Amino acid sequence: MLVSGTGSNLQAIIAAIHSGQLLLDLVAVVSDRANAPALGHAHRNGVPTFVLEPRAFPNRTAWESALCELLDDCHPDLIALAGFMRILGPDTVGRFARRLLNIHPSLLPRYPGLHPHRRALEQGDPEHGATVHLVTPEVDAGPRLARIRVPVRPSDTEEALIERTKRAEHRLYPAVLTELARGHLVVTPDAVFWNGVRLESPLEFPFS
Ligand code: GAR
Repeated sequence: MLVSGTGSNLQAIIAAIHSGQLLLDLVAVVSDRANAPALGHAHRNGVPTFVLEPRAFPNRTAWESALCELLDDCHPDLIALAGFMRILGPDTVGRFARRLLNIHPSLLPRYPGLHPHRRALEQGDPEHGATVHLVTPEVDAGPRLARIRVPVRPSDTEEALIERTKRAEHRLYPAVLTELARGHLVVTPDAVFWNGVRLESPLEFPFS
């Protein structure tokens, strides 16, 4: 997994592995920030951690090739980004095509990029949510695998909506990974298939 921050999605994924719901080996957690709390969660759960801070490299290309080398060494079937706040270049995305997943806290294609919750509140949206999608060179624009809707309440602050959406993310991400691990969800170069049927729109997971 690639992380930069708190690591609550990482914790939810580790919990799903421990409960036996998610049959995956979490082989490594890589952070671009040495002080990311996510590293502590991984460490406490015996998951190998790696830190690649861009400032330790002469330039972006050198950082990204070190990241690719590290990922290659892990031989991952899937690479899940969870709060990884760096944009991966087209070479990296191409190299791990169809194996790179990300979670974004909005009902994509609405609100890609920064401050999605704030933008949803400003627009007066009655619902918000989170989406798991494949990573492509364009930010938050890759094929959507699944999403979960959350209600927006009239009294919501940005913080309240962030928290409610995060709780939903903690259901969504492990569920999507479970479907991939079970082979129910299959990503091919041309399309995504759900139980053998081409997925025309993202799977919808219930909020509660
Ligand atoms: C999550 O809400 C995730 O959707 C978001 O960062 C947060 C990470 O939380 N990702 C993005 O905004 C990516 N565009 P976590 O570190 O507690 O899992």
